[in-house]
Amino acid sequence: MNIILFGPPGAGKGTQAKELITKFGIPQISTGDILREAIANKTKLGLEAKKYMDAGNLVPDEVVVGLVEERLKNKDCENGYILDGFPRTVVQAEALDKIANIDKVIALDVPASEIVERITGRRTSRKTGKIYHIKYNPPVSENEEDLIQRDDDTEVAVIKRLENYEKQTLPVLEYYKEKNKTTIVNGSRKPEEITKELIEILGK
Ligand code: AP5
Repeated sequence: MNIILFGPPGAGKGTQAKELITKFGIPQISTGDILREAIANKTKLGLEAKKYMDAGNLVPDEVVVGLVEERLKNKDCENGYILDGFPRTVVQAEALDKIANIDKVIALDVPASEIVERITGRRTSRKTGKIYHIKYNPPVSENEEDLIQRDDDTEVAVIKRLENYEKQTLPVLEYYKEKNKTTIVNGSRKPEEITKELIEILGK
């Protein structure tokens, strides 16, 4: 089962993907995570990508398509995968069509008014990679989790990311709607309610 988890920045793609990979036993492929790993490892690609990411802009299509193409060749993708944060442009969606068969696109619908608070309050555990929110989902012990904030989770960058989402990424939703592969899910509910619905949809 090859799935795309689609939605604006902060929609809860990462939060939900973590639940689904446990349930369905397939990997999460997050282009954001792959790029952040390249930044942490100070690779040439990472240093180049960081400039785009910190400003809230998309990394060039050819770079991201190449990364995904390589990642999908891994053995752990044989039984399916969850794409999180890819494709984000119609050019990326067209490139994906050449290398994969997508079964379902799930779009998390969250209004822009909720996004800024979600993103500026996000913290990630350096130890486990678990995603928290200082208000909606705080960890039991902040010190134990060693929480970090992403460099692109500033209010200025979030506004730019939202602008870019509307201009460059929303057309991807139309692309998949035309292929009748899309289900839109209300992402403005408790995370566990959303997970339950996603499992129902994907279990069918
Ligand atoms: P990426 O890492 O993909 O970021 P994003 O798409 O902007 O999405 P986020 O990770 O910010 O949010 P999410 O939907 O995963 O939400 P989360 O679950 O964390 O991309 C970063 C950058 O990399 C891009 O800007 C771009 O530069 C580059 N890039 C990546 N892919 C690219 C591509 N394909 N092409 C070009 N460039 C690319 O949740 C957010 C917060 O909300 C958390 O604190 C969480 O606890 C909380 N939360 C989650 N669910 C709920 C809920 N139901 N109620 C309340 N709070 C909730």
